[in-house]
Amino acid sequence: MNKKINSIKLEIENFKIENKKDLEIFRIEYVSKKNKISKIFNEIKNLETKEKKKVGHILNEIKEYVKKKFKNKKKEINKNEEIINKKFEDLTLPPGNKEIGSLHPITIIRYKIVSIFKKIGFTIIDGPEIENDWNNFTALNFPEKHPAREMQDTFFISKKPSILLRTHTSSVQIREMTNKKPPIRNISPGRVFRNEAISPRTHCVFHQIEGLYINKNINFYDLKETLFYFTKSMFGKKIKNRIRPSYFPFTEPSIEIDINCIICKGEGCKICKYTGWVEIMGAGMVDPNVLKNCKIDNKKYKGFAFGMGLERITMLKYKINDIRLFTENDLKFLKQFSNL
Ligand code: PHE
Repeated sequence: MNKKINSIKLEIENFKIENKKDLEIFRIEYVSKKNKISKIFNEIKNLETKEKKKVGHILNEIKEYVKKKFKNKKKEINKNEEIINKKFEDLTLPPGNKEIGSLHPITIIRYKIVSIFKKIGFTIIDGPEIENDWNNFTALNFPEKHPAREMQDTFFISKKPSILLRTHTSSVQIREMTNKKPPIRNISPGRVFRNEAISPRTHCVFHQIEGLYINKNINFYDLKETLFYFTKSMFGKKIKNRIRPSYFPFTEPSIEIDINCIICKGEGCKICKYTGWVEIMGAGMVDPNVLKNCKIDNKKYKGFAFGMGLERITMLKYKINDIRLFTENDLKFLKQFSNL
């Protein structure tokens, strides 16, 4: 009897329960109604009372041990299974169906303007925002110490040598004219910087699109037709244009283009300062000095140039009255353009 008990004790202790299957076998063998321990219990009937008590006590201890082992292993196995079956999130997947963003109004207008000029053969060029004095001023016929430089309040990075944040994207066109042979026909969209106080109408960082066409036999009529084609494509066939004389160091003659105020339809309002007209761009025939600075034969070639502020065009187009809205990242403002 002792032998039997010892062997079953060893058997139970050494029984390895690693999975559900093992657990079930263990249950049938030692926990179920007809388990091996109960069988031995049946056998002790015939023993002497003293012996019966002793063996019964040992068997009860084994029974307790079996119960505990079964309970702990069951718990452990269930827990492991839970971990295995748990669906882990795949962290490598792209973010799910989150809210979709939309284009910034300035971007919408930039795309529109670019596509208008692309249709008539203009290519798009790009250049650095940090420029030297030559590309931003001197090559563009701004004489040194000339008051015209003050028209564009500049953020200087260093004075000697003169390194600055470009005040217009005409600098990109100087680079292009210096490195390419005519005919040249391009537009240069980009960010520009001017040392101006931020107000509802002005900002120190804004966007421009400047255009340039250099070829033989270019004249003022080409400029006028190109720009009127643009205003009609942008603001509709019925828009009225007018040309006013102006001054820029790099163009001669220089002009500005006004359109009929689209907010008050020419009646007069705050935006057009009650004149019925709003200025949308500067332009002119490229000054022969600029061509010479870029090593282009100014006897053979002529050109026209124009430049406009994207913020201004966007404000007119969408009737926005404060330039600061473009940079405040207010979703209530930005979402209004999500289905354009
Ligand atoms: N570069 C000018 C500006 O920033 C705009 C302009 C471009 C005017 C080309 C005339 C010709 O104000």
